Amino acid sequence: AKLTLTVIKADIGGCVGHCSVHPQLLDEARNFIEEKGKGLLEDYVVTHVGDDINLIMTHRKGVDCSDIHKLAWDTFLSCTQVAKRLKLYGAGQDLLADSFSGNIKGMGPGVAEMEFEERPSEPVIVFMADKTEPGAWNLPLYKMFADPFNTIGLVIDPKMHDGFKFEVLDTVENKKIVFNCPEEIYDMLVFLGASNRYAVKAVYNKKGEPAAVSSTQRMNLMAGRYVGKDDPVLIVRCQNGFPAVGEALEPFANPHLVAGWMRGSHFGPLMPVSCDDATPTRFDGPPRVVAMGFQLAEGKLVGPQDMFADVAFDRARQKALKIADYLRQLGPFEPHRLPLDEMEYTTMPQVMERLKDRFE
Ligand code: F6R
Ligand code: MG
Repeated sequence: AKLTLTVIKADIGGCVGHCSVHPQLLDEARNFIEEKGKGLLEDYVVTHVGDDINLIMTHRKGVDCSDIHKLAWDTFLSCTQVAKRLKLYGAGQDLLADSFSGNIKGMGPGVAEMEFEERPSEPVIVFMADKTEPGAWNLPLYKMFADPFNTIGLVIDPKMHDGFKFEVLDTVENKKIVFNCPEEIYDMLVFLGASNRYAVKAVYNKKGEPAAVSSTQRMNLMAGRYVGKDDPVLIVRCQNGFPAVGEALEPFANPHLVAGWMRGSHFGPLMPVSCDDATPTRFDGPPRVVAMGFQLAEGKLVGPQDMFADVAFDRARQKALKIADYLRQLGPFEPHRLPLDEMEYTTMPQVMERLKDRFE
């Protein structure tokens, strides 16, 4: 049977504040999956980036399998008990529904999963980010799969030369469109550049085989405002017709600005870090991305290799910190602070109500 790689993530309590995940939660998740995943999973890895727990799982049940989604949901529920006992910050915060109803999508946690025939050698990278949103993957995915200045394979590898297809979600209207690249890159970039609304859901090669998939999902409309953008994950298959591992990592060598950071209301550089450094503290950030590499072998997750631990990303980190220093000097001013209608927090309605008579 085909193999499915499923990554499901949730923030079910931070330590301290929104900075990290307490080791007891990770232990609880591992023990729970070890027991309840028997007969269901081929393999699994439990990790975290910032305050998010990430469950990386392989199985033969296909995407949107309710048994797999329920396993993740129940794992997060049992971790929530631990989080409540330790009074961790925001215990259970991403479990928005009262009970599981068949598919974890729309219930709070983020999901990225793809089903494929395991190749004779199957290198994959799982990217996980904290303090940002799914649109954060737009620029790196464009570079990986459509920009020959990043991915030389598009030019000189006959297996990549036909290009790739991008599935892009309008997260507000909840509609998707597929762009053929390189033919349609100019049309596509009109949308991808607006990463607060349009986000790449998946990338396929021209034969239709999955190359990448993200946790992008529709935005929820609550109290007349769109909310529910979430710290995203991304799976990328590498090598032999897909981007080389180094081509998949290269976009992160130049930290681009993403929305998120403090109170989900600021632009900041996406800093590539080792898994040990995935603990955003400065102004609750800056936003972080980690990359775990695996070789899949008959469904087993061989690895992980902590891809951004490499010294070659030291300069990217330095650059990100310089950008962070610069942006922080702007304090509450745009373009460090997000535009009014994109902030996660706002006092505007109350302040305006109080002052409205003083406008003349
Ligand atoms: C950003 C984030 C944090 C919180 C901030 C305030 O995604 O999670 O920056 O927004 O720490 O948190 P509260 O409102 O819980 O005090
Ligand atoms: Mg988070």
